[in-house]
Amino acid sequence: MKLVLHGVGLRRELMRVGIDLVEVKRFHNDIYNESFLNRVFTISEIEHIKSVSSVDFQLERLAGKFAAKEAVLKMLGVGVGNGVTWLEIEILPDHWGKPKLSVSGNAKKMMKMLGLNNVDVSISHTSSLATAICVASE
Ligand SMILES: CC(C)(COP(=O)(O)OP(=O)(O)OC[C@H]1O[C@@H](n2cnc3c(N)ncnc32)[C@H](O)[C@@H]1OP(=O)(O)O)[C@@H](O)C(=O)NCCC(=O)NCCS
Repeated sequence: MKLVLHGVGLRRELMRVGIDLVEVKRFHNDIYNESFLNRVFTISEIEHIKSVSSVDFQLERLAGKFAAKEAVLKMLGVGVGNGVTWLEIEILPDHWGKPKLSVSGNAKKMMKMLGLNNVDVSISHTSSLATAICVASE
């Protein structure tokens, strides 16, 4: 897939931010849908989602990661299908449980082209809603 950077959404800025909010219930069926899971989440992310025994908490975690990926896309100023794929944005916990973002492929190229070297993601979820924010700077 060819990556094209154009338009005001993709100009270089000192700091960029993206935020997203999703309803947890929209994923009730998706959590059992292997094709959806494998299209949107990496193997390590799926392992992290399923590492808790409660399906309700798995759903919250899945929704939180999904919101985080959308927040990253908004931070970049693109949507999936505009050159970046879900799997190029991976969010896994660090040693303390804090989400850590790894980008690859076109998402990584886009970060570089936008001159972004520092990026952070934060996630919060309840049984009904999950939200995430992504902040990136030079
Ligand atoms: C970590 C903590 C703040 C999460 O808050 P919460 O209200 O229980 O839950 P929320 O839904 O708002 O947030 C959950 C998300 O916080 C994130 N998180 C977990 N640990 C984290 C940490 N140390 N730092 C930043 N974010 C963290 C994760 O993404 C988590 O979702 P996930 O487990 O599905 O990946 C809470 O468990 C807590 O206060 N723990 C004790 C104190 C602590 O360790 N604070 C860490 C910040 S210094």
